[in-house]
Amino acid sequence: MNDPVAADTGADLDPDVAAETAPRTALTGELVEEIRRRVFDEAGFMRLTQVARYGGQMHRASLRPVQLKGERRFQAETTEGGRMAVRNLAAVDALPALGRLLEQRGARELHLVTASGDLHIRITRKGKTLLSRSKPLAREVDEAPAHDHVKRQPLQAFDADALLRVTGIADTDGRIKATMRGKYDQVNEFLRLFDPLVEGRPAGAPLLLADCGCGKSYLTFAAYCYLTRHHGLDVQVRGIERNAELVAAARHMAEALGVAQDVQFLAEDLATCRLAENPEIVMSLHACDTATDEALARAVEWGSRAILCAPCCQHELQQEMPGGGPLRAVLRHGILRERLADILADTFRAQILRILGYRVSIIEFVSVEATARNVLLRAEAGVKAGQPQAVSEYLELRDFWQAKPWLETRLAGQLEKHLTRMEG
Ligand SMILES: C[S@@+](CC[C@H](N)C(=O)[O-])C[C@H]1O[C@@H](n2cnc3c(N)ncnc32)[C@H](O)[C@@H]1O
Repeated sequence: MNDPVAADTGADLDPDVAAETAPRTALTGELVEEIRRRVFDEAGFMRLTQVARYGGQMHRASLRPVQLKGERRFQAETTEGGRMAVRNLAAVDALPALGRLLEQRGARELHLVTASGDLHIRITRKGKTLLSRSKPLAREVDEAPAHDHVKRQPLQAFDADALLRVTGIADTDGRIKATMRGKYDQVNEFLRLFDPLVEGRPAGAPLLLADCGCGKSYLTFAAYCYLTRHHGLDVQVRGIERNAELVAAARHMAEALGVAQDVQFLAEDLATCRLAENPEIVMSLHACDTATDEALARAVEWGSRAILCAPCCQHELQQEMPGGGPLRAVLRHGILRERLADILADTFRAQILRILGYRVSIIEFVSVEATARNVLLRAEAGVKAGQPQAVSEYLELRDFWQAKPWLETRLAGQLEKHLTRMEG
């Protein structure tokens, strides 16, 4: 992906497609001068990112210092319609490229990150320039990291500073809070699961996601930002959460991040909420107890193409499990009983989805240090429903445990024809 050093590539940070339709709003000469100075003359320049949406697409450009064969270069990365291009420029080429970027007009956001502080500029559709600066900082910087250093994590693949700060994962200086490290890792690893689901997707094809039991909405916003800013997709997200206070807080965050049009919240119960359109992908991270089953049931009813669901505790099956028989020695221990109930609950869920035409895998999506609840059901529609093997495996397991899985009762209408054919 990384080109060798471009001699004179003439490479714009952003190609010459400045929004013809956008208002002719330019940065003031003073701001342009400040950015140039901080990028090229300050030792602590870390990153400059510009994000603009026009022509129905997200356009992202960024510049950061890198060390290449012992020399300082500037890595320019552009994402257009989901395609990313990277060029390593000598300062002599980076200077005019930055000039062209700053000359661009129309609504956009610029974020400059340096060791001494951040500058955030937002130019609204109406042409208003909104400016904010961090307090003076003294960040430590790896002044020019290697150009091909470590495989980046999703939350480092785009400018996630505002996302992490607004959601409270990072502090006001942009550092991940110690108490949020586990959540940061969970979200990061969860985001990776979207990559194969959107690979090769045209940027213009709208994608609707639902986050079931979204709680404080870390994942809701992260998924939106990752899919729009890194993958360049046209995305809408609906967060569904029955706690009205959490929803009010999430709406504030959506405003603060400037994404309230695309990321909306329903203060409703999963079982009864109504969406104007069926989501293509349903995600759910640790929705409590049978809310996980409700998320799966809704995904089936919505005909969702893909489901990413990390279950939480499952009390219902645990209470149903018989205490006697050869498993008595296992089931008398609370912790083993709980773990066995979790394994069985997830197996029943996976098997029901298989019967209903999903290809399912159960994975550990993140390390156990990040969360003990690190199992995830990944399901993609596309296989024939009612396959005899899937049905018979389900019935055998269910009858062995004399269980009545909650999800079977919930999806009785969809399952009946497959189960009765076999049972009868
Ligand atoms: C453990 S939190 C997880 C929140 C978030 N997904 C995360 O991982 O940070 C589970 C959330 O699911 C919500 N929830 C549980 N049952 C629900 C239901 N039936 N409808 C809507 N929300 C529900 C709870 O209010 C809670 O905020």
